[in-house]
Amino acid sequence: MSDGNRPTVMVTGGAGYIGSHAVLALADAGWRVVVVDNLVTGFRWAVDPRASFVEGAIEDAALIGRVIAEHDVGAILHFAGSVVVPESVVDPLKYYRNNTVATRSLLESAVIGGVRHFIFSSTAATYGIPETVPIREDAPKAPINPYGASKLMTEWMLADVAAAHPINYGALRYFNVAGADPAGRSGQSTAGATHLIKVAAEAVTGVRDHVAIFGNDYNTLDGTGVRDYIHVSDLADAHVHALEALIANPGDNLTLNCGYGRGYSVIEVLDAVDRVTNRPIERRLLPRRAGDPDALVADNSAILARLPWRPKRADLDLIVTDALRWQQHLVERDAQA
Ligand code: UFG
Repeated sequence: MSDGNRPTVMVTGGAGYIGSHAVLALADAGWRVVVVDNLVTGFRWAVDPRASFVEGAIEDAALIGRVIAEHDVGAILHFAGSVVVPESVVDPLKYYRNNTVATRSLLESAVIGGVRHFIFSSTAATYGIPETVPIREDAPKAPINPYGASKLMTEWMLADVAAAHPINYGALRYFNVAGADPAGRSGQSTAGATHLIKVAAEAVTGVRDHVAIFGNDYNTLDGTGVRDYIHVSDLADAHVHALEALIANPGDNLTLNCGYGRGYSVIEVLDAVDRVTNRPIERRLLPRRAGDPDALVADNSAILARLPWRPKRADLDLIVTDALRWQQHLVERDAQA
């Protein structure tokens, strides 16, 4: 291990949306980072130049073994995977391959290579339709799509592997991740956006001409779906704190919701977008989208108790402002190309 008790950190999916922000947070905090990404949905330019970069697949055991040995990797932050819920319904085997089977291989490489700490991108989709909101970590896990199931199966693997081998893990269950690096170094860049704030940002910049509201007959205050939106930079910081906690307490694992514990409806989000730009975007009411729960809001008391993490950007207007700034950057960049 390098730098005393500070291992080199391997970040899989470090060229993707959340992974690239985690690389920024790690590098800003002085960690040595090596990114492994196959660049299927990520971008080479999104990888911070302070990190080493290896193009390749996490299930390529020979490659991962080499990277662990050559970079003296002591911890893995694992973001690589497939993330589109509706796609998981029509192509479940892709999700079990990319999220579950590939992670099994990565975990085996980690155990063989003597990696001591592993942080996994889990999801609120592991809960399915919650019985009570806000949702605690010990709520029933009943995913309603292959995406959530593929992630939950990985959580089970992690628990079994950590019980059998000298490795501990963090399973961070993300709620709705949005926004972009406040310094403008990264943001959500993958085409074919389906996430509400990204879609709204595209409408603001003329990439699309309206935003659909998928149903207004939900059991919520205004009838539209309620979600707990977390700023991607706060989420990235949570990973750095989780890593520090795993290193400090090698006998402990962490399974933590990552959210602010405050929900906003679709209408409240779109109102925030209009407020920030002072120019309303067109809204069109459409039928419900399949598989959308009424409300998903984190009980975040566990992460606040277990980690010194404190949200810095828990403000919907701020999240929207950062998302819009990044979207503007993408549009200007594409116009120059
Ligand atoms: N919505 C719209 N119009 C859109 C897009 C979304 O009305 O154009 C609504 C949805 O119906 C939902 C809310 O906005 O009520 C949020 O939808 P997103 O698609 O932005 O996000 P989801 O809540 O469906 O899913 C996200 C991630 C999943 C993760 C889940 C857990 O995509 O990976 O959060 O909370 F599992």
